[in-house]
Amino acid sequence: MHSTISLADRFKNLGTETVFAVSQAAADHAAKGHTVYPFHIGDVNIGAAPNVIAAQQRAIAEGRAGYVAPQGILPLRIAVADDVGAHRGLRYGPEHVAIVTGGKPVIGKFIQAVMNPGDEVLYPAPGFPIYESMIDYFGGVARPYRFAADAHGSLSLDFDHLRSIVTPKTRVLIFNNCHNPTAAESSASEIERLAAFVLENNLLVLSDDAYSEVRYSGRTHHLVSQPGLQERTVILYTFSKKFGMTGWRLGAAVGPKPIIDGISQLNLNDESCTTAFVQWAGVEALTAPATAAHCDMLIQTLRERRDAAYEILRTIPTLRVVNPECAFYFYPDVSAAMQAKGFTSVNAFANAALIQTGVSFATRMHFNRLHPDETGSFIRLSYSGIGIDQIRTGLGAFAAWLAAT
Ligand SMILES: Cc1ncc(COP(=O)(O)O)c(C=O)c1O
Repeated sequence: MHSTISLADRFKNLGTETVFAVSQAAADHAAKGHTVYPFHIGDVNIGAAPNVIAAQQRAIAEGRAGYVAPQGILPLRIAVADDVGAHRGLRYGPEHVAIVTGGKPVIGKFIQAVMNPGDEVLYPAPGFPIYESMIDYFGGVARPYRFAADAHGSLSLDFDHLRSIVTPKTRVLIFNNCHNPTAAESSASEIERLAAFVLENNLLVLSDDAYSEVRYSGRTHHLVSQPGLQERTVILYTFSKKFGMTGWRLGAAVGPKPIIDGISQLNLNDESCTTAFVQWAGVEALTAPATAAHCDMLIQTLRERRDAAYEILRTIPTLRVVNPECAFYFYPDVSAAMQAKGFTSVNAFANAALIQTGVSFATRMHFNRLHPDETGSFIRLSYSGIGIDQIRTGLGAFAAWLAAT
């Protein structure tokens, strides 16, 4: 049917997650009868803990399924405040927590709560694409910052670049330690430098901590734990990754009360509240000892997948790849591989890999705009939604394809 309906002008500034196009290409390839090795997926195929599932069913059966407060139920806000505080050596109370439907909504709601049109926002590129989309949509000025790579490909923040893009109009820094798509993380000294930068420039911080407890060794260094940072930082907290609860849509904003109150008011306007029985499941996830064993299993499963993938990736001579200690992504530099295979476009390289080997992955192009001099020859391989046998067979085929001239 022909339609003359056009969307409101503001939609011209709304971005998307272009990686969903990769999912579609993978599905189309599979529909033709081909095997697909899904390394493009950021979903976790391990599932929630049985006691959490039972708690949700109990909550429904007992009728705890009506509207609740826009900021969330008190037991969950207390549990999130305790959990966030315990991991960061800080004290939070329920007044510092707004429950939302996943981690993602924290991004747009935080930006709406603190950013005026024309304010500048620093955010990582590569980085989670929703930062850029929400800054543009709500009339901010997007200021992407970059990473510097050492000789081994390990990434760190590029402070010279950060200093070159900050201005008196910069209001917010978005920071994602244990980073999507690179799995890069900051050392203790880098966090100290970043804290100094935030204070010098009087910035507010959105700390996207989606992966800060998805880690295989060591510990995450938190920006919010630096002196003077708690009162200017909102944490994006999510049940998606560490509890394997992606589709449950449960998360929280944690930070200074005025911003949290603003986010709760947005909740009231948008959803009224996050689904009540899902919130009760969240209380179980955070407070029942039984959940811990499930989380250990989840991390152990991811670790085994990471090790199986790295075992193959590190032997491919045309890839430069780092073995990360957190999140569930590899972010290899594929410039040499592209050159050897005769590709100048990383998306064309990805399409050819899918057709020739069935291996499906995202590329740098799916994670925010390129910097002017950036070539973008990186790919993201996620191991959160693929089993070990598929990892071995798929990456084996990928390695063989790269080796063939
Ligand atoms: C960096 C980052 N932040 C936030 C999210 C949002 O996750 P969710 O809305 O499932 O909590 C994701 C999901 O992939 C992510 O990678």
